Parts: sequence; C-alpha cells; structure tokens
Amino acid sequence: MSEQKPLYLQPGSIGRLELPNRLVRGATSETMADDETGEVFDSFVDLYRSLAAGGAGLLLSGHMYVEVRGKASAMQTGIHHDGCVAGLRRATEAVHAEGGRIFAEIGHCGSQAMLPGARTVAPSTVANPMYAVEPEELSADAVEDLVAAFGAAARRAVEAGFDGIHIHGGNGYLISAFASPYSNTRSDDWGGDAHRRGRFFREVVKAVRAEAGEGFPVTARIGVEDSVPDGLRRGESLERSRELADLGVDGFETTFGIMRSYLQNIRRFVAVGGAQAVRNLVFQRLVQPPGEEAYYREFGRAVKQATGLPVLLVGGVRTTHTMTDLIRSGDADFMVLCRPFIREPDLPLKLAAGREGGVECVSCNMCLVHDGYDPLRCWRKSPVAVGSHLWRHYVRNRPGH
Ligand SMILES: Cc1cc2nc3c(=O)[nH]c(=O)nc-3n(C[C@H](O)[C@H](O)[C@H](O)COP(=O)(O)O)c2cc1C
Ligand code: SF4
Repeated sequence: MSEQKPLYLQPGSIGRLELPNRLVRGATSETMADDETGEVFDSFVDLYRSLAAGGAGLLLSGHMYVEVRGKASAMQTGIHHDGCVAGLRRATEAVHAEGGRIFAEIGHCGSQAMLPGARTVAPSTVANPMYAVEPEELSADAVEDLVAAFGAAARRAVEAGFDGIHIHGGNGYLISAFASPYSNTRSDDWGGDAHRRGRFFREVVKAVRAEAGEGFPVTARIGVEDSVPDGLRRGESLERSRELADLGVDGFETTFGIMRSYLQNIRRFVAVGGAQAVRNLVFQRLVQPPGEEAYYREFGRAVKQATGLPVLLVGGVRTTHTMTDLIRSGDADFMVLCRPFIREPDLPLKLAAGREGGVECVSCNMCLVHDGYDPLRCWRKSPVAVGSHLWRHYVRNRPGH
C-alpha cells in the first residue's frame, strides 16, 4: 500500500536504520541546558517527546559541544562529560516511547562562538568572518585531543540511547574551518593541501566510528562550498565526501562551509506568498521576493552522485510539491526541515492526514535571534508571542545575530 502514499511519506533507510517516512526534523539548537554543565532541562525532554509524537521519521538534535571551548551559545546542550548522559537518556527514552528515532548532532564551534569574550580555537588565527574575532591556533597535540573528544562524545551518545550520530561538519564550525583554505592556513599534517585539510574530518569520523561500532548509523552535515572568496570549492568537498563515505559515513546533509552570515544558511521568507505574509504580519516580505525553496539542492545532487549515499536535504524545504520533486528526481532522499518543525512539531501527522502545499512557518527568523537567550519556540504563532518577542529581544536589550 505504501506505493500510494506521497513519496515523502514512504519508508527509507540510512545505513541499517529503517525510517517510516522521509521527513526529518533538522538540527535545531534548543537553549534548554544548564549554562555551566551543559546538562539538559526537563523542557528538552518534553520538546523531543512532542516532536516524536508529531510523526517525523527521524529527529536530529541541536548541536551538542564535545568540549567546553566548542560551546557556541549560552545554554547550549553539552555532551562533553559523562554527567550529560543521564538527561540525554531521558530524552531518547521519551522519543522511543512515542515510537520515534533520534540522532545526536555533535560538534565544536571553533572560532564561531556567540559568547561575548569567549577565547576560541581554530586551525589558524584567521578571524572569523561573522564575528571578526581572532581565534587561537590549535597545536598539533590539541588537535589530537579534539579528535578524541569527538570520539568520547560519540561513546556518550551511544550510552544515552541515541539511534545514530550526526557530525556537524558545516556552517563555519570547527570541522568546516579545517576543511577550508580560507580558515586553514597550516602547513603541518592538518593543513597545507586539500588532503591534509580533510584530515580532521576523516579522523573525527574514524574516532566516532570506532566508539559507535560497526553498523551504528553515522551521518554528517558537510559544508560543500564556502560563501567567502578564496574559500572551499565543490570539487574538493566531493572528493572529501567520497573519502568519508569509505570511512563509514552512512549519509550526508549538505550545506555551506565558512559563511559571512547565518542568514546565508537560514534564509528568510522561503516560499512565502503575499497573503501568508500579510496574515503573519511579515510586511518586509512584501518589499522583497519570496526566498527560493530547497536552496542546497545542487549540493545535495552533487554529493549524492559522488557518493551514492542517501542525501538529507536541508534548507528551505517547504512544500509537498517540492518534496515530491526532490525525491522523484533522485536529488535527495530525506527532507530535512528545521524552522517548520519549530512552528508545527506535528507537521508529519498533518501531511499524513492528507494536507498538501506549504507550511505555516514564514522563515521570519525570530526564533533564530533568541538562540542562546530563550528556550526554542516559534515567536510568530500568535500576537501574544510576537509581543513577547518584541519585549525580550528589543526591550530587554541584548544583541541578536
Ligand atoms: C533557531 C535555529 C537553531 C539552529 N540550530 C542548529 C544546530 O544546532 N545545528 C545545525 O546543524 N543547524 C542548526 N540550525 C540550522 C538548521 O538546521 C537549518 O540548516 C536551517 O535553518 C535551514 O533549514 P530550514 O529552512 O528548514 O529552517 C538552526 C537554525 C535555527 C533557525
Ligand atoms: S519564529 Fe516561527 S514562523 Fe518565524 S522562522 Fe521561527 S518557526 Fe518560523
């Protein structure tokens, strides 16, 4: 009977893991953990319980830092010490009790921390293009320690009951900084040419695979191109994706590497029509065209052709028409949606009930400016929510990003 279902509601698999549909909740930083310890609050468990109940085939957690200098924002989830495991286990148990599956996204922010005054580390002392802050250069020994930290984080993810591990290798964070000629100007074994720039990613994958064991699902977000001049180019990344596939990565999510702004990855007003803009009071949309859907499609297609592995396509996937087209064309296998799930955690159930067309999220990015300040939520859902956003963001007087 499943042939009669829309393609995005049909089963698929990543490695040995079978998923009941192709709808994936994209990694979304929660701001629901203790700022000192990184241990999660009950709200984190409740968030993932409700997402699992909403019917997504797979959930990706927000990025969790593997060591303390890898923390990107306040109240981010940690997976850098064993004390983090108990809370994460409660979350995976809640997901499993609802019949869901969840991967842990593990990462390190490198030079891209949103924490004022943070002393950041990176392959070289190149200033981060978003924050213009110069990081400290990692010694070769410190790089080895970081590879081990990724391995230890993977062990904790397995202990906490996650169904897979998603390695954050994009968006300007540490792995993508090693991969890029813009940010990696080293001349030792960790930089200097394309092969050595890829070494950190390869070693992280090996460490994760060694801890997780054969067959345990491991996927990676990969920065396919940088958006800065003299940055990483596609050919180099495609070769890298093949090498990572040989080391046991089971699927890729494609995105940018080094970026000038988060808005290049988290684009505004995707596929939002005039009437939807007015209903949602996003009048800025009326003076600019709607954002393009599925904006990493070309990256997804290229990585799929290079590796033959499942591609999880993130970035402005918004309508059932586009989802069907992406899967039918073979450009992507799984539809990863981030902001639409913030607004509608039960979106898959609604689609399974026959809803077609677009999503309620208008990609206004109010949720983004609260990352690291307030627990994750949609601030556009009602006039009261918008008022609360205005108060917290502007009157309470904090910088956004
Ligand atoms: C509030 C917020 C938090 C995010 N946190 C993460 C994160 O922890 N890890 C990650 O890989 N991407 C993160 N992203 C980026 C999304 O996963 C995704 O790449 C981006 O929002 C584009 O997809 P969308 O159009 O479906 O929202 C975040 C985005 C938003 C809006
Ligand atoms: S605040 Fe709500 S509508 Fe705006 S981008 Fe975030 S989830 Fe979508």
